[in-house]
Amino acid sequence: MRAAWYLKNGEARDVMVVGDWPTPQAGAGEVLVRLVTSGVNPSDVKSRRARPLTEAIVPHSDGAGVIAAVGDGVPASRVGERVWIWNGQWGRALGTAAEYIALPSAQAVVLPDSTDFAAGACFGIPALTALQAVYLAGDLRDKPVLVTGASSAVGHYVTQLVTLAGGQVIGTVGSPAKAAHAQAAGMREAIFYKTESVAQRVKDLTAGRGVPVIIDMDFASTAGLLAEGVLAPHGRVVCYGANTPEIAFNFRAMLFQSVALQFFLVYELTAADRQRAQDRLTELLQSQQLQHPIGARFTLDQIVQAHETVEAGQTVGNVVIDLT
Ligand SMILES: NC(=O)c1ccc[n+]([C@@H]2O[C@H](COP(=O)([O-])OP(=O)(O)OC[C@H]3O[C@@H](n4cnc5c(N)ncnc54)[C@H](OP(=O)(O)O)[C@@H]3O)[C@@H](O)[C@H]2O)c1
Repeated sequence: MRAAWYLKNGEARDVMVVGDWPTPQAGAGEVLVRLVTSGVNPSDVKSRRARPLTEAIVPHSDGAGVIAAVGDGVPASRVGERVWIWNGQWGRALGTAAEYIALPSAQAVVLPDSTDFAAGACFGIPALTALQAVYLAGDLRDKPVLVTGASSAVGHYVTQLVTLAGGQVIGTVGSPAKAAHAQAAGMREAIFYKTESVAQRVKDLTAGRGVPVIIDMDFASTAGLLAEGVLAPHGRVVCYGANTPEIAFNFRAMLFQSVALQFFLVYELTAADRQRAQDRLTELLQSQQLQHPIGARFTLDQIVQAHETVEAGQTVGNVVIDLT
């Protein structure tokens, strides 16, 4: 089969190779999926740059395709199923940047017929992260919710899900084009975080009270906002990202505001959380309540450009590689 891989950490153009790779086989409890799409996420970029490796890595955790074969213990009736993949390259070397992937049957989830394969490449990380974040945020009905990076891959799903839950999204965005993208997902108020005071705008929009909930993609900047009264007392921050790994924050402000702070990693959801998120996603897909904007598509031979597009951060929508 054709695949992309790297043998050492570095920039995509320096380390990524595209060529022939042995087609995997489904082992016991596994399915072999003929991939149609592979999703590219910031995590794939971070892994390529810095996650220690001892063998060749076929990158990307997300993707979608059709089950081509099953291993012992998996019902033969799964052959031919349209599926989307989660954790394709988490704790395993061979991800979805290839024509085939063999992985545990549970990691290939049925993709409804009404959902296309490009959308299916956005579920394992962006959609499931958003579903878990919104679940952890609690009851959002009639509440203003600050969503940082409301137009990013995860943030766009968060914005849709908060809106579906009856919350009102105040979103931070980097440009008018990104504001329009988030507004199409339900965002009520845009804050241009590069040119406006986020704290002042949030206070103005909430009559000085602050929001009860923040769903956050960059704790490095949000930590500072917490000391500026952006969060109402006893408010909750659900955080899934940060632009820098080491972050200092004002403990006193957090303590005196009785802030609830929750972090999580989508790769490491508990079985119960994963099942709940998958079930909710299936329900939303079947009722066609979600938008899945694809911002850029590439071939496998263009995987370097695909990674560089994610790194540049200027694409509105998800980055997907077509494998057929
Ligand atoms: N915990 C988890 O399991 C998990 C899961 C998924 C993602 N993540 C992490 O979450 C982050 C976002 O992922 P993604 O896939 O949604 O990213 P993405 O689609 O690549 O979006 C990144 C964009 O967000 C905007 N942004 C950056 N910092 C911002 C800030 N402080 N406030 C507002 N907007 C900001 C930037 O665009 P503009 O400046 O042009 O607006 C940037 O290009 C990444 O760090 C990723 O690694 C974590």
